[in-house]
Order: sequence, then C-alpha cells, then structure tokens
Amino acid sequence: MVFSRGFSRISSRILRKSSLFGCPSFIPPPAHFLSNQTSSLSDSTPKVFGCRETYLWSSHAFYGGRHLSYHQSSSIIEEELDPFSLVADELSLVANRLRSMVVAEVPKLASAAEYFFKMGVEGKRFRPTVLLLMATALNVHIPNPPPVGEGDTLTTELRTRQQSIAEITEMIHVASLLHDDVLDDADTRRGIGSLNFVMGNKLAVLAGDFLLSRACVALASLKNTEVVSLLATVVEHLVTGETMQMSTTSEQRCSMEYYMQKSYYKTASLISNSCKAIALLAGQTAEVAMLAFEYGRNLVRKFLM
Ligand code: FPP
Ligand code: MG
Repeated sequence: MVFSRGFSRISSRILRKSSLFGCPSFIPPPAHFLSNQTSSLSDSTPKVFGCRETYLWSSHAFYGGRHLSYHQSSSIIEEELDPFSLVADELSLVANRLRSMVVAEVPKLASAAEYFFKMGVEGKRFRPTVLLLMATALNVHIPNPPPVGEGDTLTTELRTRQQSIAEITEMIHVASLLHDDVLDDADTRRGIGSLNFVMGNKLAVLAGDFLLSRACVALASLKNTEVVSLLATVVEHLVTGETMQMSTTSEQRCSMEYYMQKSYYKTASLISNSCKAIALLAGQTAEVAMLAFEYGRNLVRKFLM
C-alpha cells in the first residue's frame, strides 16, 4: 500500500488504550513524508499485530519531543503516544461547535437533531480524530508559506477551516446513521435507543435530513468548490453503497470486488475524501491531496480485509 513504508510498530499499550472501529490507533504521515515516500520511507516495513496491521509514522515533526525507544529488533516503539489525546482539546472544541450547529427551531426536531451530539453519546470520534491529525501532519509543510508576521493568523484560520471539515464529516456520518437505523429497523445505537426507536422513523429521517442540510451550509461557507464537490460526492456514495448492499444478488454476495466497491462507497469514501479536503484547504499539491485520500481509503481497507 502507498503508506506501508516508513511505519513502525506501535506499542501494545496504545492498542489497549484507543480503538478505531474497535481497532488499533494510527497517526497520519507528515506532508514531507507524503511527498518524499521513496527516499524517506524505505527503512521500515509494516508489522502485524494479531490479524490487523497497525502503523505509526516515525517522524520527529509529528512526535515533537516524545520518547522513542530503540529495541534490539531495531523497530522503534513509541511508549506514550495516544492519538486521541494529541487532539483531545480540539475534539471537545469540535464537539461543542457541533452542538451549536445542530440547534433547530422546532423543539421536536431540536431534540432529534442533537440526539447523538450530546455528551457521552458522541461515539469514538474516529473521523474527527483522523482529520485533525491529518491537518497537523499536513500543516507542517505548507507550500508557499505566508510572510513572517502574517503566519499566525493564517495558520489559525486554516486550522479552523480544517476543524470545520471534521464537523461537516461528523454531521454527514451521523445523518447517514440515522437513516441507516431506519432502514435496518435498529433499536439501539451507541449503547442507547436508536433515534427511530425512541422518536419514530419519520422524525429520525427528518433529523438526518436536517443534519445534512446543516452540513451543506457549513460546507458552502468554506467557499471552496472543489471541497464542496468532494463532500457532495461522498453523500452520493453513501446512498449508492447502502443501495448496493440492500440489492445484492447471490452472485454479487460472493464477489470480493463488489464487497470492496460497496464498502468504499458506504464507509471509506467519507474519510478518504475528507482527508483530501483537509489537504486541499492546506494548499497542498494535487499529489499530496491524492495521497491523503489514499491514506483514508487504505485506513478503512485495513479493517475490511
Ligand atoms: C452503517 O451501516 C451505515 C452507513 C455506514 C451508511 C448508511 C448510508 C445511508 C443510509 C445513505 C443515506 C446517507 C445520508 C448521508 C443521509 P451498517 O448497518 O452496516 O452498520 P451499523 O451496524 O453501524 O448499523
Ligand atoms: Mg445498520
């Protein structure tokens, strides 16, 4: 895979501490690694933990002053790194902003829309975490940096726009889950009653639509047509993937290709296109944006195979 070089083994402590889809933790690569893979990443190979591969970028740019232990096997073990804690403050900022973004005028719709944004039922926040870490990695080496003095304001502005991608992504994700629970006639989600179960199918569908519309408004405010197009395509993919799943023939059920395509639409498209959006907002080259996309796609592929 594109990012398979340059990763090193992650400690089992980290694996126990955090879970992404109930899976291992990860760190996105810094931008200069993305654009310099062949020369910088050739000295290490992915290691396998149980049945799943876990990767960690061995970059000083990313670790800052963290302690790296060099073991006899010559693999580098990061002792303290917890990807969630790296962006913990920002995650609560994003969570608070999300709560204010989903406020609705009509009380019934208001309580339906905020249902999965309330404290304690926000889920693992896998997507915002990946996106914020991707932003950290890509903002290290921005092409054509602004003149000294203007830098700080522009960096803050960029980060806020990237946080906005994390918020939009999360709103699209929750909207899709609300609809999915109606389609699946689910009665639980995130350890509580699903919205359709608690408030009925009609309100659950409307709440999903509402979240989607709020995501669109936030997306439009970024005034970046390429990013708008990416995330609009994601919504199309979500619907396509869900439809592929519900209309599978017995032959398609045995096809790995069909399964991977359906899974890309249903699951990977959102995170990979959002990673790309983070790169585009950072002014990264088309090549780096594509690598950010591949990172998101391969991250999900690891969990599917
Ligand atoms: C969970 O699937 C569902 C999804 C990942 C996407 C569902 C997409 C739609 C319903 C299309 C509509 C999209 C929008 C944006 C309104 P699952 O049932 O396999 O997983 P689960 O166990 O979490 O329910
Ligand atoms: Mg479901």
